[in-house]
Amino acid sequence: MIVITGATGNVGRAVTEQLAAAGRQVVAVSRNAPTSEPPAGVRHHVADLADPASLTEALVGAQALFLLVAGDDPQGVLQVAAAAGVRHVVLLSSQGAGTRPEAYGHPVAFERAVKESGMAWTVLRPGGFATNTFQWIEGVRTRREVAAPFADVALPPIDPADIADVAVAVLTEEGHHGRTYELTGPRALSPRERAEVLAGALGEPVRFVEQTRDEARAGLLHVMPEPVADATLAILGTPTPAEQAVGSDVERILGRPARTFADWAARHVAAFR
Ligand SMILES: NC(=O)c1ccc[n+]([C@@H]2O[C@H](COP(=O)([O-])OP(=O)(O)OC[C@H]3O[C@@H](n4cnc5c(N)ncnc54)[C@H](OP(=O)(O)O)[C@@H]3O)[C@@H](O)[C@H]2O)c1
Repeated sequence: MIVITGATGNVGRAVTEQLAAAGRQVVAVSRNAPTSEPPAGVRHHVADLADPASLTEALVGAQALFLLVAGDDPQGVLQVAAAAGVRHVVLLSSQGAGTRPEAYGHPVAFERAVKESGMAWTVLRPGGFATNTFQWIEGVRTRREVAAPFADVALPPIDPADIADVAVAVLTEEGHHGRTYELTGPRALSPRERAEVLAGALGEPVRFVEQTRDEARAGLLHVMPEPVADATLAILGTPTPAEQAVGSDVERILGRPARTFADWAARHVAAFR
């Protein structure tokens, strides 16, 4: 049995669906009950990673845990998992844990705790998700306009469907214990280029407006704490060479190239109409 935390999110939902379709027994965990019926064979358990004891019942009989960085007590969560008999933890961390450890203390602390837990571990470090583009929905829907900072700074967005495919491979195949994988999309694209790809999927022009750093920061502060907003802006505006590089781990693990942003846009264009 495999426990998936963050099971109603972009990545966790796809991991849960794939494992269930492959006939695996899955327990899906999130703080809120899902708004739609879980796939056949999936039991949903309401729990909060900030309250490790709330996971106890979900973890009984589990062999593997797909763990999100959430809450402030990774050791507590891992103790509950180890006591329940979990043997392998797959952590969904962040590229920033490797490229900017001083700004990404939260994922760094989770990575350390997982490695010291005594269980087998695998760490996934994705860069920015293609789904971050959902921030543009309102502007594109209402004005056919994208407002974003650092118009011409390119980064390789990863499709969460690829993160999910990698997670499923790592959870179900041999050979991934003790490994850290850097997950990126197949090509670096700037915000202006991503807006053009989206316009192509819509079949209509989309105007690009470059925001100042301060305008973008004000927007980010509505959805994330100040240090995370500043670290995000640093990556978007002045990425390191490692953050701009296209990695090879997705293709090596899946035996096919990572999905393109155009593929993601084509699959999600309805949200922007
Ligand atoms: N977006 C990026 O560019 C990016 C880049 C690198 C890494 N990441 C990491 O990837 C993770 C997953 O991304 P995503 O897009 O799949 O997330 P998402 O769509 O926002 O979904 C988050 C999921 O986690 C659950 N959750 C959140 N806090 C929880 C808690 N304390 N206890 C239990 N469940 C909790 C949510 O459900 P409830 O709200 O009902 O609990 C939901 O199921 C992020 O949390 C982030 O750490 C993201």
